Amino acid sequence: MRRIVYLSTATRLLSDLELMDVLRVSRHNNERDGVTGLLLYQGGNFIQLLEGEAAAVATVYARVMKDPRHHSVLHMLDNEATERLFPGWSMAFRPAAGLGDERRQEIADFIIKAPQEAASPDGRRALRLVGSFVQSMR
Ligand SMILES: Cc1cc2nc3c(=O)[nH]c(=O)nc-3n(C[C@H](O)[C@H](O)[C@H](O)COP(=O)(O)O)c2cc1C
Repeated sequence: MRRIVYLSTATRLLSDLELMDVLRVSRHNNERDGVTGLLLYQGGNFIQLLEGEAAAVATVYARVMKDPRHHSVLHMLDNEATERLFPGWSMAFRPAAGLGDERRQEIADFIIKAPQEAASPDGRRALRLVGSFVQSMR
Protein backbone atom coordinates (compact mmCIF):
# COMPACT_ATOMS: atom_id res chain seq x y z
CA MET A 1 0.00 0.00 0.00
CA ARG A 2 1.01 3.55 -0.65
CA ARG A 3 0.16 6.64 1.39
CA ILE A 4 0.50 10.19 0.09
CA VAL A 5 -0.09 13.56 1.72
CA TYR A 6 0.11 16.81 -0.23
CA LEU A 7 -0.69 20.44 0.40
CA SER A 8 -2.05 22.67 -2.35
CA THR A 9 -3.61 26.07 -2.89
CA ALA A 10 -7.07 26.50 -4.34
CA THR A 11 -7.04 28.55 -7.53
CA ARG A 12 -9.78 30.63 -5.94
CA LEU A 13 -11.91 30.28 -2.85
CA LEU A 14 -14.37 27.49 -3.52
CA SER A 15 -18.01 27.75 -2.52
CA ASP A 16 -19.53 25.03 -0.37
CA LEU A 17 -21.31 23.75 -3.43
CA GLU A 18 -18.08 23.47 -5.42
CA LEU A 19 -16.38 21.73 -2.52
CA MET A 20 -19.24 19.29 -2.22
CA ASP A 21 -18.91 18.56 -5.91
CA VAL A 22 -15.20 17.73 -5.53
CA LEU A 23 -16.11 15.50 -2.63
CA ARG A 24 -18.96 13.75 -4.41
CA VAL A 25 -16.83 12.85 -7.44
CA SER A 26 -13.88 11.88 -5.21
CA ARG A 27 -15.97 9.54 -3.11
CA HIS A 28 -17.55 7.93 -6.13
CA ASN A 29 -14.21 7.34 -7.88
CA ASN A 30 -12.28 6.34 -4.77
CA GLU A 31 -14.86 3.78 -3.79
CA ARG A 32 -14.58 2.29 -7.24
CA ASP A 33 -10.76 2.36 -7.12
CA GLY A 34 -10.29 1.16 -3.53
CA VAL A 35 -8.73 4.45 -2.42
CA THR A 36 -9.43 6.00 0.98
CA GLY A 37 -8.30 9.20 2.67
CA LEU A 38 -8.89 12.59 4.18
CA LEU A 39 -9.39 16.06 2.72
CA LEU A 40 -8.91 19.18 4.84
CA TYR A 41 -9.83 22.60 3.52
CA GLN A 42 -8.76 25.74 5.31
CA GLY A 43 -8.29 29.28 4.09
CA GLY A 44 -7.99 28.27 0.47
CA ASN A 45 -5.56 25.43 1.10
CA PHE A 46 -6.14 21.73 0.64
CA ILE A 47 -4.37 19.04 2.61
CA GLN A 48 -5.19 15.61 1.27
CA LEU A 49 -4.19 12.12 2.30
CA LEU A 50 -4.63 9.36 -0.27
CA GLU A 51 -4.04 5.70 0.57
CA GLY A 52 -4.56 2.37 -1.15
CA GLU A 53 -2.87 -0.04 -3.54
CA ALA A 54 0.11 1.71 -5.08
CA ALA A 55 -1.19 1.60 -8.65
CA ALA A 56 -4.63 2.93 -7.66
CA VAL A 57 -3.12 5.77 -5.63
CA ALA A 58 -0.77 6.67 -8.48
CA THR A 59 -3.68 6.91 -10.90
CA VAL A 60 -5.85 9.07 -8.64
CA TYR A 61 -2.93 11.25 -7.67
CA ALA A 62 -1.96 11.89 -11.29
CA ARG A 63 -5.53 12.91 -12.05
CA VAL A 64 -5.81 15.19 -9.03
CA MET A 65 -2.47 16.86 -9.82
CA LYS A 66 -3.82 17.95 -13.21
CA ASP A 67 -6.92 19.56 -11.71
CA PRO A 68 -6.97 23.33 -12.45
CA ARG A 69 -8.90 24.03 -9.25
CA HIS A 70 -5.66 23.98 -7.29
CA HIS A 71 -1.95 24.62 -7.79
CA SER A 72 1.39 25.02 -5.99
CA VAL A 73 1.38 21.47 -4.75
CA LEU A 74 3.84 20.52 -2.01
CA HIS A 75 4.43 16.81 -1.55
CA MET A 76 4.55 16.23 2.17
CA LEU A 77 4.59 12.47 2.47
CA ASP A 78 4.92 9.47 0.18
CA ASN A 79 5.29 6.21 2.05
CA GLU A 80 4.71 2.52 2.03
CA ALA A 81 1.96 1.70 4.47
CA THR A 82 0.79 -1.58 5.92
CA GLU A 83 -2.67 -0.44 6.91
CA ARG A 84 -5.13 2.33 6.16
CA LEU A 85 -5.62 5.28 8.49
CA PHE A 86 -9.12 5.94 7.11
CA PRO A 87 -10.42 2.48 6.19
CA GLY A 88 -14.07 3.52 6.32
CA TRP A 89 -13.72 6.69 4.24
CA SER A 90 -13.59 6.94 0.46
CA MET A 91 -12.77 10.56 1.32
CA ALA A 92 -13.29 11.92 4.82
CA PHE A 93 -13.78 15.69 4.81
CA ARG A 94 -13.09 18.35 7.40
CA PRO A 95 -13.78 21.97 6.47
CA ALA A 96 -12.06 24.44 8.79
CA ALA A 97 -15.41 25.89 9.82
CA GLY A 98 -16.23 22.70 11.69
CA LEU A 99 -12.99 22.66 13.69
CA GLY A 100 -11.98 24.20 16.99
CA ASP A 101 -9.47 27.03 17.31
CA GLU A 102 -6.65 24.74 18.40
CA ARG A 103 -7.13 22.46 15.41
CA ARG A 104 -7.24 25.39 13.00
CA GLN A 105 -4.03 26.75 14.50
CA GLU A 106 -2.38 23.37 14.10
CA ILE A 107 -3.31 23.32 10.42
CA ALA A 108 -2.18 26.93 9.93
CA ASP A 109 1.21 26.07 11.47
CA PHE A 110 1.52 23.08 9.21
CA ILE A 111 0.79 25.19 6.14
CA ILE A 112 3.26 27.90 7.11
CA LYS A 113 6.10 25.45 7.71
CA ALA A 114 5.22 23.20 4.78
CA PRO A 115 7.65 24.69 2.20
CA GLN A 116 10.60 23.96 4.51
CA GLU A 117 9.41 20.46 5.22
CA ALA A 118 8.64 19.70 1.59
CA ALA A 119 12.30 20.30 0.72
CA SER A 120 13.28 17.26 2.75
CA PRO A 121 10.09 15.46 3.57
CA ASP A 122 10.19 12.74 6.15
CA GLY A 123 6.47 13.21 6.49
CA ARG A 124 6.49 13.22 10.25
CA ARG A 125 4.54 16.44 10.66
CA ALA A 126 2.13 15.49 7.90
CA LEU A 127 1.47 12.17 9.57
CA ARG A 128 1.03 13.78 12.96
CA LEU A 129 -1.46 16.27 11.55
CA VAL A 130 -3.59 13.83 9.61
CA GLY A 131 -3.18 11.22 12.33
CA SER A 132 -4.83 13.58 14.78
CA PHE A 133 -8.02 13.28 12.70
CA VAL A 134 -8.10 9.51 12.69
CA GLN A 135 -9.80 9.20 16.04
CA SER A 136 -12.48 11.76 15.24
CA MET A 137 -13.39 9.98 12.01
CA ARG A 138 -13.99 6.60 13.65
C1 LIG B 1 -8.32 19.13 -3.83
C2 LIG B 1 -8.88 18.10 -4.75
C3 LIG B 1 -8.92 16.77 -4.34
C4 LIG B 1 -9.43 15.80 -5.16
N1 LIG B 1 -9.46 14.50 -4.73
C5 LIG B 1 -9.91 13.53 -5.56
C6 LIG B 1 -9.92 12.17 -5.13
O1 LIG B 1 -9.54 11.82 -4.01
N2 LIG B 1 -10.36 11.25 -6.03
C7 LIG B 1 -10.80 11.58 -7.28
O2 LIG B 1 -11.18 10.69 -8.02
N3 LIG B 1 -10.82 12.86 -7.69
C8 LIG B 1 -10.39 13.84 -6.85
N4 LIG B 1 -10.42 15.15 -7.26
C9 LIG B 1 -11.04 15.45 -8.57
C10 LIG B 1 -10.10 15.15 -9.70
O3 LIG B 1 -9.17 16.18 -9.84
C11 LIG B 1 -10.89 14.99 -11.01
O4 LIG B 1 -11.65 16.14 -11.26
C12 LIG B 1 -11.81 13.80 -10.97
O5 LIG B 1 -11.15 12.68 -10.46
C13 LIG B 1 -12.35 13.48 -12.37
O6 LIG B 1 -13.25 12.44 -12.24
P1 LIG B 1 -14.16 11.97 -13.45
O7 LIG B 1 -13.20 11.56 -14.53
O8 LIG B 1 -14.95 10.82 -12.88
O9 LIG B 1 -15.03 13.15 -13.80
C14 LIG B 1 -9.92 16.14 -6.45
C15 LIG B 1 -9.86 17.47 -6.85
C16 LIG B 1 -9.35 18.45 -6.02
C17 LIG B 1 -9.30 19.87 -6.48
